[in-house]
Amino acid sequence: MSKKQKAKLIVDGRELELDVIVGSEGERAVDISKLRSETGYITLDQGYGNTGSCTSNITFINGEEGILRYRGYRIEDLCEHSTFTEVCYLLLRNRLPTLEQRETFSRLLNEHSLLHEDMRHLYNFFPRDAHPMNILGTMVNAMSSFYRNVDLLSMRDNIDLTAARLISKIRTTACYAYKKNIGEPIVYPRREQKYCENFLRMMFWSPVNGYELREDHVRALSVLLILHADHEQNCSTSTVRLVGSAHANLYASISAGISALWGPLHGGANQAVMDMLAKIQRQGGDIHKFINMAKDKSSSFRLSGFGHRVYKNYDPRAKIIKKICTKILEEEAAHQPLLDIALRLEEAVLKDDYFVSRKLYPNVDFYSGLVYTALGFPINMFTVLFAIGRMPGWIAHWKEMINDPKARIGRPRQIYTGVRERKYVPIKDRS
Ligand code: ACO
Repeated sequence: MSKKQKAKLIVDGRELELDVIVGSEGERAVDISKLRSETGYITLDQGYGNTGSCTSNITFINGEEGILRYRGYRIEDLCEHSTFTEVCYLLLRNRLPTLEQRETFSRLLNEHSLLHEDMRHLYNFFPRDAHPMNILGTMVNAMSSFYRNVDLLSMRDNIDLTAARLISKIRTTACYAYKKNIGEPIVYPRREQKYCENFLRMMFWSPVNGYELREDHVRALSVLLILHADHEQNCSTSTVRLVGSAHANLYASISAGISALWGPLHGGANQAVMDMLAKIQRQGGDIHKFINMAKDKSSSFRLSGFGHRVYKNYDPRAKIIKKICTKILEEEAAHQPLLDIALRLEEAVLKDDYFVSRKLYPNVDFYSGLVYTALGFPINMFTVLFAIGRMPGWIAHWKEMINDPKARIGRPRQIYTGVRERKYVPIKDRS
């Protein structure tokens, strides 16, 4: 990070020299940290599109060119050669593990995969049809009361243990929520199985039907989780950082991140895509009707799974998922009609001026729901899968922030636009 360049700002006729921060990939930022103290001004940037909240060495995105790298490694290479647990290690420790380190880490995850039995009883207090994202956020928050030493210093010093607990238990928590939802007995994790194998078996094994693991499904799940593992300062990660900046414990911070992720403009979009594709199918498959509706400014409808705050090019994650999707769905006749609608929709959108001029491309959520469906996941579990994938990224950001000597509590400013001071009116005199 270099600070040689300077920027000049003239405010009220006064010239202020500001540092220019240059990142390792040449991104530039004007450091305005002294702006208010020296001029009385703040910056206004609704939605934070131009605001850097921190420096970070975890993930690099170039939205214009469609590049995504975790700790310097291309997402394409990680998806081809790595597993989700290896990527968790990479994000948390900033290096790819050796064989021995990977085995030790996998063992640690398996050792911490079980939920405290008392936590299991909490599931009984949710309505049967509670959304699993709701259960997930509540359970992750509740976890902090099942462990000692959740104060900041203890958590920071025991981050490996806390990370293993969170990464492993969130998956168990999600599977229990699903089993509770469908009224089947829960399935406990098994020590000898790997992360994604355990996950699929805990989800789909039943005492009557059993469950046969398919290697291609295990691999597809691992790749999808890798693709969701981090995405720098998105809404949920910024939430985790913001809550964590108040020194709330990591479980509480992650629980807040889960709530942010649930929103349909963020992680909830994969569910919205499947609803949209099904609706198009029910209404006869006319994609143009939906495209026109999305373009109509008098309607609030948007094409779910298109557009991204950062990517103004094809989302590299969507490219990888599209390949998996077409491969997995090749043999799944039942899902072909929805895939066909998705492919036609993408083709038409990529030729349409409205979308082309606004640089709206398919995002990570566009094809992921189709893959999850082919794997057997119900729609209401899609965002839960996103949360499970995002867990190592959230923890890596919390860890980075907590160890940053310059980190301060997150506290944006505002420009007040309400009424000016008024005289208090006693209730008897109010009209
Ligand atoms: N369909 C139709 N029009 C769209 C869409 C869409 N999916 N996305 C953006 N636009 C239009 C907007 O109406 C706006 O048009 P205008 O310039 O005429 O006013 C323009 O494109 C820019 O859109 P913004 O809302 O300013 O873009 P922003 O960066 O704030 O929002 C977002 C990004 C939320 C992802 C948006 O594209 C969207 O709502 N997409 C659909 C939901 C979705 O797929 N979310 C998942 C995102 S990926 C993730 O979070 C994991």
